[in-house]
Amino acid sequence: MMTLQFLLQLFERRGALAYDGEPVTQLQHAWQCARLARQAGASEALQLAAWLHDVGHLMTDLEGSPTERGIDDAHEDLAARVLLPLFGPAVAEPVRLHVQAKRYLVRQKPGYAESLSADSVRSLALQGGPMTEAECAQFAALSAAREAQRLRVWDDLAKDGELPWPASEQVLAELELLMARCRLEAASERG
Ligand SMILES: [Fe+2]
Ligand SMILES: [Fe+2]
Repeated sequence: MMTLQFLLQLFERRGALAYDGEPVTQLQHAWQCARLARQAGASEALQLAAWLHDVGHLMTDLEGSPTERGIDDAHEDLAARVLLPLFGPAVAEPVRLHVQAKRYLVRQKPGYAESLSADSVRSLALQGGPMTEAECAQFAALSAAREAQRLRVWDDLAKDGELPWPASEQVLAELELLMARCRLEAASERG
């Protein structure tokens, strides 16, 4: 099983990589997404999901913006598989579904598609395009569908290249504490 330390080290080692052709790094994107979750009053599990939703990108060796080369790295599945045994479904499921949530919202929410960045539009095509009505019904029936949509909206907004941010060490210390609390919570739920 992967450890919390390993997840932290992924951000330490690779957090400075550019995020998918956007004006932020991977670490800035993750931190901004978690910040939006916290500001929205999300549970700690959903805040951690926001923090870690793209950690799958850091687990692959693909550099830069893989979608520009027509590659879907399936980062959501990769991350969810690692997060489930550590933090349980409250963290892993919204992460696993954050790409599907985009496909859902493009179909269901007027104006959403137009709000997406160029890279998100490019990856949408690789990820299967907008959902069909039948796929939307299946998605909406999942227990984490709502959390995944909330996460998706923060994800789309967490690309602000102008937003001032604390030192990386402080940001990573926040992540470490949140992971420790969510780990305990998941362990107590398992009993
Ligand atoms: Fe993602
Ligand atoms: Fe993201």
